[in-house]
Amino acid sequence: MQVKYFIIFSLFVSSLMTNSSTVMALPWDTDLYNQQSLKSNEIARSPVMGTVPVGFERFNMTIEEAEKNLTNPVPFEENSVWRGQRLWGQQCSACHGVNGDSSHFVGKSVAAPNLLEERFKAYTDGRVYATIYYGIRSMPRYGYKLSEGERWDIVNYLKFLQGKETVSTVKKPE
Ligand code: HEC
Repeated sequence: MQVKYFIIFSLFVSSLMTNSSTVMALPWDTDLYNQQSLKSNEIARSPVMGTVPVGFERFNMTIEEAEKNLTNPVPFEENSVWRGQRLWGQQCSACHGVNGDSSHFVGKSVAAPNLLEERFKAYTDGRVYATIYYGIRSMPRYGYKLSEGERWDIVNYLKFLQGKETVSTVKKPE
């Protein structure tokens, strides 16, 4: 009797192993999660080298070159700072805090530096621009998410947070 059950069981197991679609269905409880759709912040595939999205400019300078040679074409004025504040909130504050000192829980967890320190105030606009574009060490790149004008608006907003320049109409976060 037991031998009969053993044979039936073995047949069942071997049919599972040969019928790959049944095996592939396991574990079934993650099916909806593991699908081809993109997960948050994932991009479809790496673009071909040199690809430039519509409306974007090609940018080839290294951070070192940008520090010396790249000048900020967007004047430091109310509208740019205001736009920069909104973009900072979307793209940078998660790690650098709303005020740039990176002192909150996430900032500490990813070891984001306090951007209000003198050494970062000394950065040229071009260097900050290129850092946003390429990312640096453990900081992800943000170039592909922002247009050229948006990057310069963020550069201007960081100068505002650092107190290098100021406009009276935009309120500094605490
Ligand atoms: C996912 C977290 C994260 C986000 C979001 C982020 N940063 Fe950073 N940033 C870091 C970390 C971590 C470092 C330190 C990198 C290192 O030295 O390893 C850093 C460093 C920097 C530096 C100093 C670079 C240097 O030369 O040492 C600047 C400037 C900066 N970030 C600006 C920005 C701006 C502007 C944004 C928004 C566009 C931004 N960051 C968004 C994590 C982040």
